[in-house]
This record gives sequence, C-alpha cells and structure tokens, in this order.
Amino acid sequence: MLEVSGLSKSFGGFRAVSGVSITVETRQIAAVIGPNGAGKSTLFNLITGHLRPDSGSVRLDGRDITGAPPHRICRMGIGRSFQRTNIFPQLTVFENLQAAFLVHHRRGRNFWLRSEELYRDDTAALLASIGLAGEEATVAGTLSYGNQKQLELGLALASDPAVLLLDEPTAGMSATETHETIRLLERIAAERALTLLFTEHDMEVVFSIAQKIAVLHQGHIIAEGTPAEVRNDPEVRRVYLGHGLTHA
Ligand SMILES: Nc1ncnc2c1ncn2[C@@H]1O[C@H](COP(=O)(O)OP(=O)(O)OP(=O)(O)O)[C@@H](O)[C@H]1O
Ligand SMILES: [Mg+2]
Repeated sequence: MLEVSGLSKSFGGFRAVSGVSITVETRQIAAVIGPNGAGKSTLFNLITGHLRPDSGSVRLDGRDITGAPPHRICRMGIGRSFQRTNIFPQLTVFENLQAAFLVHHRRGRNFWLRSEELYRDDTAALLASIGLAGEEATVAGTLSYGNQKQLELGLALASDPAVLLLDEPTAGMSATETHETIRLLERIAAERALTLLFTEHDMEVVFSIAQKIAVLHQGHIIAEGTPAEVRNDPEVRRVYLGHGLTHA
C-alpha cells in the first residue's frame, strides 16, 4: 500500500533522512521508532508532501506520489495527524470536524447552502466513532489533552484515508488516556480497513499494536521486522540502551 524507497532529505548540510526504504502492506499496522531527532517527523513530512525529498520515491498503492503537494496527497488517500495538535481551539468539537469535511469536499463557499447545514450526519457519526459523542458543543481548546488528540484523529479521518500516518498519537497522555487511545486506534483501523503507520516513544504502545517496526537512527533505518525481531536486534538494543526497550 505504501512503498518508500531511498528517501533522503538534508537541511543545510545535515542529512536528517538518509536513503530510507520501508514498505507497509494493506491493513498493516506499522511503527517507525527511534530516538529524538532520528528523523521520524521529517520522514512523515516527506511522505505527506509537507517536505520535498532530495531523492528517493514514495508510492501509494502503486502510484508515484513523490513531491506532490500535501492537499493532493491527502486527496489520494493519505491522512495524517501532527506531533503537535492541529485543531481550531476556539471552535467547538462539532465545528472542527464539520470544517474538516467541508475542506475535504471543497464546500466551504457553497453558493446554495449555509455551510453549517452541511455534513451534519457525517460529522455526528464521526464524533461518535472517535468517542467524543456528548462533547459536540465543547470548545475544542478546553478539552483535555487526550480528548484533543482524539479530535485530531477525527480531523484526519474526515478525508476518509486509506493510509493514516500518526506522529506520536499518545505523546503527553496519561497512562489511562494512552490505553484508551490504543484501543480506539485498533478499533478504527479495523472498522475502516486502514493501513496505519505511526511514530511513538512509548514502547509499550509500540509493542502492543505494531505488526511491523522500523527503527530509525540518525536518519538511517537500522532494523526492520516483526516486534520480536526488532526487540532482539543487537544494534537496536545498543541504540536504545537504557531507554526501556528491554522492558517492552
Ligand atoms: N526544518 C528543519 N530545518 C533544519 N533542521 C531540521 C528541520 N526539521 C528537522 N530538522 C532536524 O532534523 C533532525 C530530525 O528531526 P525530526 O523532527 O525528523 O526528528 P524526530 O525523530 O521526529 O524527533 P522527535 O522524536 O524529537 O520528534 C533533527 O536533528 C532536527 O533538528
Ligand atoms: Mg518527531
């Protein structure tokens, strides 16, 4: 479904992502892990068109999407969430999700209908699906951090993606919020037949849901395989020494 091949990106003279190749199969749940500054977010930005690669290619379901602008890549079926939250804090939960539908369907300036009447059923269904029913009138900026991340997941789902990229979906969450988010992600991935690629520092999260793990270190993939293979990889253990991987 997603095929990244030899992707590289430098900032000034610094190679943040260096010859990275990974594949994610249809409906697979895959994780990219690696220490701070390893290049995970940069890799995601290259896949989603927020950055242009210096070299290499990205294929989505066989189609070359390398270097296409973010809105086109989104339309072709890759949704994403950001490491820092991307919601409109002064709008309600309902308005945030409805706006995401309007943007996706380019109906923001519809001549005939008031935009607030559009996609109400889709919005309500999505709200329930992400576990925020009852919060529709809440101003998004006042939601708990965990609920804001849930809302952000909803924004990414409004474009009905085939592939979803999540940059640290449980960052900053309490243990309970983290646990709920994992269950939510698993349920939504199954319901929507999603292909999922995520980054995460919490090794419990990674090893509980990823079917495949790629390890990024200083811009390079140093290991790729099943959770068991990656956990036992000597190079990975060296990079993560003292970082809790042994307890995962
Ligand atoms: N726009 C930029 N300009 C210059 N350097 C950048 C830019 N974006 C990222 N970098 C550098 O590239 C490297 C990789 O950054 P990136 O954000 O991809 O890492 P990461 O693996 O996502 O880290 P974290 O786990 O902290 O989120 C870092 O050294 C970072 O400082
Ligand atoms: Mg990052």
